[in-house]
Amino acid sequence: MIRVYKLWKQYGDAPPVIQNLSLHVDKGEFVFLTGPSGSGKSTLLKVLIGEEKPSSGQVVIGGKDVGAMTASQIPYLRRTVGFVFQDFKLLPHRTALENVALVLKISGLSPGEQRIRAIKAIRRVGLEHRMHYDPAMLSGGEQQRIAIARAVVNDPALLLADEPTGNLDPALSLDILNIFREINARGTTVVVATHDPRLIGEVKRRVIYLTSTGGPGGGQDDDDFLDAEIGVSAAERAAAAAAAASAASADAPEPATAGATAGSLSGGKSSGAGSGGIGSGGGGAVGGGGGGAHGIKRHR
Ligand SMILES: Nc1ncnc2c1ncn2[C@@H]1O[C@H](COP(=O)(O)OP(=O)(O)OP(=O)(O)O)[C@@H](O)[C@H]1O
Ligand SMILES: [Mg+2]
Repeated sequence: MIRVYKLWKQYGDAPPVIQNLSLHVDKGEFVFLTGPSGSGKSTLLKVLIGEEKPSSGQVVIGGKDVGAMTASQIPYLRRTVGFVFQDFKLLPHRTALENVALVLKISGLSPGEQRIRAIKAIRRVGLEHRMHYDPAMLSGGEQQRIAIARAVVNDPALLLADEPTGNLDPALSLDILNIFREINARGTTVVVATHDPRLIGEVKRRVIYLTSTGGPGGGQDDDDFLDAEIGVSAAERAAAAAAAASAASADAPEPATAGATAGSLSGGKSSGAGSGGIGSGGGGAVGGGGGGAHGIKRHR
């Protein structure tokens, strides 16, 4: 679903934010993207949706080379990728329903169908009873749930969320996380950028850790990276994807088996993922070190 290969991203003359980053996310996976503030999480997500161009390297989403897309092709990419922002970005003076339905304006569906689809998406986040409210009349958690409904209303193959619980208390954060899990169980690949270790500790999913050790010129050995990256076997990945797919076909919330399978992806990394110091040296450094390379660490 996502393949990033030797990505470098630099803003102007500043030192690169992302240095020689390679990673892949399979169809049906649910992964966390974490790392300290400034390590490039948001930048990576922006590159994935074509909002920022790679300085070099390749970014492929669903088989399409995003870096090579022209400005006129980007909107087509966005139709297959849902995006949840930390600050919701709901339109004021529009009801929750209108906010969600607006995404479908260009879909070719009739207004009636747009409305039905939007209501369905709002129902999935449990807010049918609030759909005629303006965002200003909704709590932070409710606004974020509407933003998620908006991101998934056109059934994207991929859902990217940037600090989706950044402004929410722990209980609400868990609610939001569970919504992502259900969406994932229905077959959507989900990437959640967060520096909230509690959130990561809640579910045993693969964690991609971005480090920003600063300074250009490092560069990880990509072959080493790939070897380590494949530390989770292809069979395990396939099993997780299959579990997600079967849950999707059953049209049911994520079953325990899917969680268990995905749990093995994280290799029994316990809730210590939250408290054990992400990136503190445990858990399979991938291409780390490398004198300023943009490292990734995998938890298993
Ligand atoms: N448009 C931009 N122009 C110049 N520099 C930028 C731009 N966007 C981000 N940066 C810089 O790139 C670096 C990485 O920023 P980014 O927002 O990707 O980090 P992050 O990991 O998402 O951080 P946080 O956890 O605080 O959200 C920061 O040093 C930031 O100042
Ligand atoms: Mg960010």
